[in-house]
Amino acid sequence: MLTRRHFLAASALSSVAILARFEAQAQARFATPLPMPQLLDARGSEAPIPLVLAKGTHAYREGRSVGAMGYSAPVLGPAVRVTRGQRVAMAVENRSERLTTVHWHGLIIPSAADGGPHNAIPRGGTWKPVLPIDQPEATAWFHPHPHGDTARQVYSGATGLLLIEDGSGEQLGLPRTYGIDDLPLILQDRWFDRSGAPVYSPSPMEIMAGFRGDTVIVNGVVSPLARVPAGVVRLRLLNAANARIFDLRFSDRRAFHVIASDGGYLSAPVAVRRLLIAPGERYEVLVDFSNGAEVVLESGPDDNRPMMGMMGAAPPLIDGGQVMKFAIDRSQPATTSIPKSLVPVLRLDGGRIAARRQFLLNDMMMGGMGGGMGGGMGGMMGINGRPFDMERIDVETRLGTLELWHIASQSMAHPFHVHGTQFQILTLDGRTPPAHLQGWKDTVLVTREAQILVPLTQPAPRSHPFMYHCHILEHEDAGMMGQFTCA
Ligand code: C2O
Ligand code: CU
Ligand code: CU
Repeated sequence: MLTRRHFLAASALSSVAILARFEAQAQARFATPLPMPQLLDARGSEAPIPLVLAKGTHAYREGRSVGAMGYSAPVLGPAVRVTRGQRVAMAVENRSERLTTVHWHGLIIPSAADGGPHNAIPRGGTWKPVLPIDQPEATAWFHPHPHGDTARQVYSGATGLLLIEDGSGEQLGLPRTYGIDDLPLILQDRWFDRSGAPVYSPSPMEIMAGFRGDTVIVNGVVSPLARVPAGVVRLRLLNAANARIFDLRFSDRRAFHVIASDGGYLSAPVAVRRLLIAPGERYEVLVDFSNGAEVVLESGPDDNRPMMGMMGAAPPLIDGGQVMKFAIDRSQPATTSIPKSLVPVLRLDGGRIAARRQFLLNDMMMGGMGGGMGGGMGGMMGINGRPFDMERIDVETRLGTLELWHIASQSMAHPFHVHGTQFQILTLDGRTPPAHLQGWKDTVLVTREAQILVPLTQPAPRSHPFMYHCHILEHEDAGMMGQFTCA
């Protein structure tokens, strides 16, 4: 991965030094074994599950320990396994230096337990929500959500996983041995300084485009190597980057058999050779390694950026590159088949819409080109012309109804996320979405426009409204977020 930054650094060196440097890089790449978040089995647990947000020490690159942050871990956090029908008690302790909240992204639970900006956990405080788990098997996640500080805290490392089970994956015979043939891959990117520490210092332009690093990390490390059985392996992909959209493919162009989107299984696996995954989204995929060949997971360039208009130069294109490598471990037993069908996805009834709403995601100066520079960055990001305000309820919905939301992006693509629900995409840029986007979703990448059907099944009083927002975290922090009640 010869990135822009490496190239600039290298060009100052002699050709001999350049060669030595490249050799060192080639050796270092794919040397680190893929770390697995610790599996924390909360099924049947009566006692609260402790999660402690605190600073830690972590080596993103081998041999370079730097400061990080995580939930009961030096960086990232555990994969908490829960089961449908269970009420999971959590005890989240904030031992970090800043006010935080913990949001359970993807859970369909009442807003009081949701962990949005209104569920503040002060420094030294502990928050004890009870999460009533009642939704299909899926991969969800959790991360900080304090208004104005989400991007920095997630970038520092605070990100964990929730593995919701209901027995269906077991029945289908899907790979499910955690860390062996069932691997979570938390995809992120960072700018590293010379010491190997991630730097977070977005310029105004990087706030407008979203802050993207030049180096991809998976489960907290650069260029890892996973050893997998010579068979069918399940990857739980999570884009937990602040802003980067990953355009994933394998170096030999083998297929991703997509089996699940954000909220659970698709009706049947969908084979794709390229898989776009935007911040906040998850896909579970099956990949066939039975030919025994090593393969590299790659990502294409990310050119998602706003039209800069009068600001002049656009922010740079972000290069793609190699993400990680898979090698084969023949000592492990392998699953060999990919099921023909999965779990039927009930189509929501578009004839029973209680309300229709429009959301325009503002990513340029208010009012377009002539809007002036005076408002500061906060004034530029908003929804329907208004930046987020914790004291303002933007939308009031009725509990137990279905709504049709029309979302439009102004000049760049935005991953639009809704709390407290799993929705279905009716149209994407005016068309029926591709098959792998026809299941349950909580985040949709809106390139130009999308229509989604939103079931409203969870209560949200004025004291704890649900959020809807862009999951490019700089946009969210800068005001591309709104809140709704449900009663
Ligand atoms: Cu993953 Cu409101 O966020
Ligand atoms: Cu969420
Ligand atoms: Cu956005």
